[in-house]
Amino acid sequence: MLVMAVTSRKGGSGKTTLAGHIAVQAERAGFGPIALVDTDPQGSLSDWWNERKAETPVFARTIIAQLPNDIERMKRLGIRLLVVDTPPAITLTIAHVIKVADLVVIPTRPSPHDLRAAGATIELAERMGKPMVFVINGATPRARITSEAVIALSQHGTLAPSIIHQRTDFASSMIDGRTVMELPRKSRSAEEIERLWMYLSHRLERQDVAPASETVHRIPSPLPAYGIQSLIGEPRVIEGGVQ
Ligand SMILES: Nc1ncnc2c1ncn2[C@@H]1O[C@H](COP(=O)(O)OP(=O)(O)OP(=O)(O)O)[C@@H](O)[C@H]1O
Ligand SMILES: [Mg+2]
Repeated sequence: MLVMAVTSRKGGSGKTTLAGHIAVQAERAGFGPIALVDTDPQGSLSDWWNERKAETPVFARTIIAQLPNDIERMKRLGIRLLVVDTPPAITLTIAHVIKVADLVVIPTRPSPHDLRAAGATIELAERMGKPMVFVINGATPRARITSEAVIALSQHGTLAPSIIHQRTDFASSMIDGRTVMELPRKSRSAEEIERLWMYLSHRLERQDVAPASETVHRIPSPLPAYGIQSLIGEPRVIEGGVQ
């Protein structure tokens, strides 16, 4: 099983939006089963998932102290990718999640505040020797600040080639638990997420030691409708302020 941490110490950079979209797109592209974990006491990703009608991706309720144990259980259940959403600025939680991650995805808005804040996340990931990918989110088409952000970020590491633009459908689709890919009309937003996932999946596949066929055999079928929390013991609900 691979673990993707979606993290950035800057609030509002798009962690929750991208965590949900990446997980759904990964499932649509046949990379599943995918599980989601929300380590943010704000619980935005959990709230979104609770509104979802679709059964996948599954959602695992955990607390940060239990994450390594629950990761082992998810491995045994045949989950292929775990996407972990993180809070802004709770450094200890972010450090715990990065520690168990195979790939650290850092959403960054093309703004001076986000670019400055990225430094702390980069330092954490580098200290733990974790591969990382920056994703520019919320870009305005043709804005000069976007190309400046591309230059600034590529000096510190790899930048995903698909830039995610500022579009209302990213927010509106999530109101009822969907994503831009699940809206009736094909959109440029959906294409951006598809391209982003294509890139991320290649990065992940490089870390995936198990051949794909072996992974498929381990998939329990079917996965329970209400997520895997029922299979990993009593639901452990994230309490406000829990680290
Ligand atoms: N590409 C985008 N286009 C339009 N709106 C976006 C985009 N990305 C995120 N948003 C909106 O911006 C707000 C912040 O996004 P999101 O909640 O994903 O950020 P976050 O990093 O998880 O925030 P926090 O640090 O508070 O957890 C939300 O209202 C979301 O709908
Ligand atoms: Mg969030």
